[in-house]
Amino acid sequence: MFAPLIVVACATLGAAQQVYITTSGTVARPSCSAPQPWHGNPQPHYYQKPFSWTQTETVRYATSVPSPTSTTTYARPYEELSYLLGNVVSTTWGSWDRNASVRPTDTADPYGQAAWTAQWENANIVNWTTSTQLYSTTVSPTPVAASELVYPPPRYLNPTECYTFPEGFMLGVAGSASQFEGAVAMEGKAPMQQDNVGPESNHVANEYYFLYKQDIERLAAMGVKYFYFSISWARILPFALPGTPINMQAIQHYDDVINFVLEKGMIPVVTMWHLDTPLTFFEGNRSMINYVPPPGFGFHNGGFQNETFQDAFVNYGKILLTHYADRVPLWFTFNEPFLDSINGQSIYTVLKAHARLAHFYREEIHGTGMMGLKFIDNFGVAADPHNATSAAAAQWYNDFHLGAIANPLYLGIDYPETYKQAISDYVPLTPEDLAYMKQTADVFGIDPYTINVINPAPGGLEACLTNASHPLHPGCVTTSTLTQTGWAVGYGGFVWAHDTPKYLRTYLSYLWDTYRTPIIATEIGFPVSGEGELPLANQRFDSPRSDYLVSNLNEILKAIWEDGVQVLGAFVWSFADDWEMGTYASQFGLQFVNRTDQTRQYKRSFFDLMDFYNSRKSD
Ligand SMILES: *[C@@H]1O[C@H](CO)[C@@H](O)[C@H](O)[C@H]1NC(C)=O
Ligand SMILES: *[C@@H]1O[C@H](CO)[C@@H](O)[C@H](O)[C@H]1NC(C)=O
Ligand SMILES: *[C@@H]1O[C@H](CO)[C@@H](O)[C@H](O)[C@H]1NC(C)=O
Ligand SMILES: *[C@@H]1O[C@H](CO)[C@@H](O)[C@H](O)[C@H]1NC(C)=O
Ligand SMILES: *[C@@H]1O[C@H](CO)[C@@H](O)[C@H](O)[C@H]1NC(C)=O
Ligand SMILES: *[C@@H]1O[C@H](CO)[C@@H](O)[C@H](O)[C@H]1NC(C)=O
Ligand SMILES: *[C@@H]1O[C@H](CO)[C@@H](O)[C@H](O)[C@H]1NC(C)=O
Repeated sequence: MFAPLIVVACATLGAAQQVYITTSGTVARPSCSAPQPWHGNPQPHYYQKPFSWTQTETVRYATSVPSPTSTTTYARPYEELSYLLGNVVSTTWGSWDRNASVRPTDTADPYGQAAWTAQWENANIVNWTTSTQLYSTTVSPTPVAASELVYPPPRYLNPTECYTFPEGFMLGVAGSASQFEGAVAMEGKAPMQQDNVGPESNHVANEYYFLYKQDIERLAAMGVKYFYFSISWARILPFALPGTPINMQAIQHYDDVINFVLEKGMIPVVTMWHLDTPLTFFEGNRSMINYVPPPGFGFHNGGFQNETFQDAFVNYGKILLTHYADRVPLWFTFNEPFLDSINGQSIYTVLKAHARLAHFYREEIHGTGMMGLKFIDNFGVAADPHNATSAAAAQWYNDFHLGAIANPLYLGIDYPETYKQAISDYVPLTPEDLAYMKQTADVFGIDPYTINVINPAPGGLEACLTNASHPLHPGCVTTSTLTQTGWAVGYGGFVWAHDTPKYLRTYLSYLWDTYRTPIIATEIGFPVSGEGELPLANQRFDSPRSDYLVSNLNEILKAIWEDGVQVLGAFVWSFADDWEMGTYASQFGLQFVNRTDQTRQYKRSFFDLMDFYNSRKSD
């Protein structure tokens, strides 16, 4: 038993702590509180009757997204905005043939075919393979057969609460360029950081670059309204930098993706950068691509600290906004930038680049849609909420992952003090900087897959934060996925993922109360452990993923209705099994993908997702 007073005292030190209440007895059954028919007669009545073989099963079909009846625009079309880009040159390149016997001869052109080819030759792509690639041109979509759209047998267990999704709630599914497109060296795309990540490469991936129409057709057939995807910088601008030519084939490709989404009655959501920095930004030292950031930072190096990154990204973002802002209502500049940050300069680049694009969108494009960033943070919860040291460590963990970027952009206030203590090369923010950055994001995107239980670094948090020689500096915490009672925090999936829906509700309150901005759960999803090794029928009967989606969405509803948290939408990662940064094994997909023939098949979780949403939507 714990004294409630201590709990209250600690709650001011660190948000969202796990509180343990010792109890005994049985689990509550609130739905059984009404008098039952057998009340007062606990003995069953046994009897026999003629046996019947019949057992009723319903056959239900998914309902597709209705055809659009009107179009909404969120900005003027490109023809009226192109002047904002100044003089731009566009051109086209071919596809890289590493075995070509004839070399391009336009060697005098810094952005010609020869220069483009040289980028690939110099990229030192290891394990180059496109041997399983099937397509080299856009595939026309075919309608999805009704037989594919039959609902699976109903779920046995479902939440019993009666909440509905608020009008306009955005339910969507998500993917990204580098993880789905394939065609990495085709139609002008230049090399970027993910093209050389092993042991399995993204060179073919889902061939979504050619199969997007079929993929979108399949999503529309399931009735999902929002489609989240990212655009590849290295495709739009093969030479990455301001003043270099735009790739017309890429502009037309994404134009076509957006138009096809709209034609199918769906709504596009676009991210500008999704872990795919062009290789150019590592030119000075290629081995920096594989640089492992200090403990506590992310897993990769996104090159943000390169002094040319900020202007180049802003130039790229302006090209996207002028071309597509008329049809895209929701934009994210960066996906999980913390994951690719390595120092204080990287964080500063993200802040400035985002703020500049938000100002451009609002003041020059006059866009009426929304813009935000997507944060990575598997919510840090204190291992021992009754211990102030533990609570402070959890607070620091979330401040590091979120606050360093979110304080300036959402609240217009300085970095957290702990961040300035820990990150010696942090870039100081002037009052002018803060005024410029303040509230430049309309939505708070969070990818809240799971949680981490946080303990301070051995020797204490403070001692570590201020000591660059400490082996855990600057992260200065240890993480675990066990509760204090020794149980896992939730059902475990592939590697790090655990299904922790009740913490999601707490987390949403934390974000809403802290950053005071409407939230979108921009990626929720679950990699079922060992799924790829199961027979196909069992892969498709992915109950753990359904459990995850249904329970997490139900907790989002509770956050909305019981806690007053404004959650605008949720996007499920991912719309199909994909390439997950070096592997195809950690499947997150709502669809199975056959790696031999690229056919897709719906998993049951997709149907359960739609059923949960459709039975609770209010528009
Ligand atoms: C292309 O060249 C590579 C390396 O020189 C070689 O391994 C591969 O077999 C060649 N492919 C074709 C289709 O000739
Ligand atoms: C290349 O393939 C080998 C063998 O599968 C693998 O160990 C390695 O990680 C791969 N390297 C890259 C950069 O893809
Ligand atoms: C930074 O990016 C530029 C391209 O804009 C490149 O020329 C330079 O070498 C990069 N610096 C480093 C250290 O990689
Ligand atoms: C290049 O980067 C590697 C890996 O981070 C580093 O070990 C090496 O010192 C760097 N080389 C130069 C010349 O800066
Ligand atoms: C709180 O936790 C820290 C480290 O996790 C530990 O050293 C300290 O003894 C704990 N304090 C109490 C009062 O339990
Ligand atoms: C900093 O950490 C290192 C490594 O753990 C340790 O040897 C050193 O004593 C610490 N310095 C201070 C001032 O605590
Ligand atoms: C994948 O496709 C190939 C070729 O069509 C087929 O032989 C194989 O059985 C399929 N695999 C699964 C698991 O369906």
